Amino acid sequence: MEPILHEFGSLLLRWAHIIAGMAWVGASFYFMHLDAALRPAADIPADKGGEAWEVHGGGFYQVKKYLVAPSHLPEHLMWHKWESYTTWITGMLLLVWTYYYQATLFLIDPGVMALTPLTAFLIGVGGIAFGWVFYDLVCRSPLGKSAVATGGVVFVFVVAMAYFFQHVFSPRGAFIHTGAVMATIMTANVFLVIQPNQRKVVAALKAGLPPDPKYGKAGKLRSSHNNYFTLPVVFLMMSNHYPLTYSTPYAYVIVALALIGGALIRVFFNQRHGGNGNWWWCWGVAAACLVAAVAICATTSPAARAALGLPSLVTTAEAAPTTEVNVPAPVQDIVMGRCAMCHMAEPVYEGIAIAPRGILLDTPEAIARNKPLILMQAVLTHAMPPNNVTEISPEDRAVLKAWATAP
Ligand code: HEC
Repeated sequence: MEPILHEFGSLLLRWAHIIAGMAWVGASFYFMHLDAALRPAADIPADKGGEAWEVHGGGFYQVKKYLVAPSHLPEHLMWHKWESYTTWITGMLLLVWTYYYQATLFLIDPGVMALTPLTAFLIGVGGIAFGWVFYDLVCRSPLGKSAVATGGVVFVFVVAMAYFFQHVFSPRGAFIHTGAVMATIMTANVFLVIQPNQRKVVAALKAGLPPDPKYGKAGKLRSSHNNYFTLPVVFLMMSNHYPLTYSTPYAYVIVALALIGGALIRVFFNQRHGGNGNWWWCWGVAAACLVAAVAICATTSPAARAALGLPSLVTTAEAAPTTEVNVPAPVQDIVMGRCAMCHMAEPVYEGIAIAPRGILLDTPEAIARNKPLILMQAVLTHAMPPNNVTEISPEDRAVLKAWATAP
């Protein structure tokens, strides 16, 4: 029962997380576009806002922006914050559900560092909290006055966090935590800076006082950071399903390239929507980042090197230590005979270049570690082997079942 509940819990959380994320990213793109598209309005002084006309869904919209606020508090005010909060809440639940609850499976790689699930959890949550504290200090420091200086420091910081996570967690655990640090900064920007500032402006309006423009400015700075973070964060969240992206020893460089490429694509759109011309060079640099990332992955991940016929970079002495585990011989035989040809460091199955989903099933240790996944993929469902290409028999599945469900 438990694996089934776990599987459906994971599905529901991921579903909610993606939907909330789409709403949030969509709103972020929309407001950046709107801000860039504002033109002078007859009834608003030039430096106090502007207006934009839009056509959508069978009608025309006239949207006006008042900087920092209109003269009086409107009766109906729509807030945009729950898109962000629900994305973060579902994301954290998903992190707990997948990476902390099943830490030995997804987060802890004894070949990197033999953590206990509790230490791994504390490092993960601690790292995420530290990320926000550091970023917020940078924005509030004198550096925060320069958008370029802040951007530079934040960039180096995120890459450093990726480097750190890479040296404590499994490769995919490191990627997801780097993404979680950035995503937490984004939501905390909304929760701890943008929203409180907007509430101060609303309070001033209610009191009939002129609101301080500094609140609007700080909010806009943080919301621009969020906008530049969007594409790299979505990349980091997705790339977990593509083991080639994180199985290189230079995974932190891949993070750096995703940050540069993703941010530049946003720069292109923000400039274009602002009527500042087409900054096509942004796409050129973003494409160069992508090519560099592919080249690094292909030439430095062990499996990709093997697939390309390049000599291995890992010497036997450096190879991850394997611990003795007790997997019954018949189970080992089945998995080695029906699964390992695809799920090994250097797969031998025609057309498979790298272990699918990064799942290795080629040593007793790896088989023991992946017990819950084997149960789900080959016993409870018959998703594996795909279309039963390696012809696993019902008797073999029964043997796997007895082993995987034994207490
Ligand atoms: C012909 C190659 C091949 C064989 C043989 C094979 N697999 Fe897979 N396996 C794949 C591919 C491809 C995927 C990725 C599927 C996807 O992306 O949806 C995968 C994914 C998986 C996953 C990850 C599923 C997920 O979504 O997280 C597990 C676990 C797994 N296989 C276990 C097994 C087991 C156990 C066996 C043997 C009983 C097996 N596989 C045999 C190719 C194979």
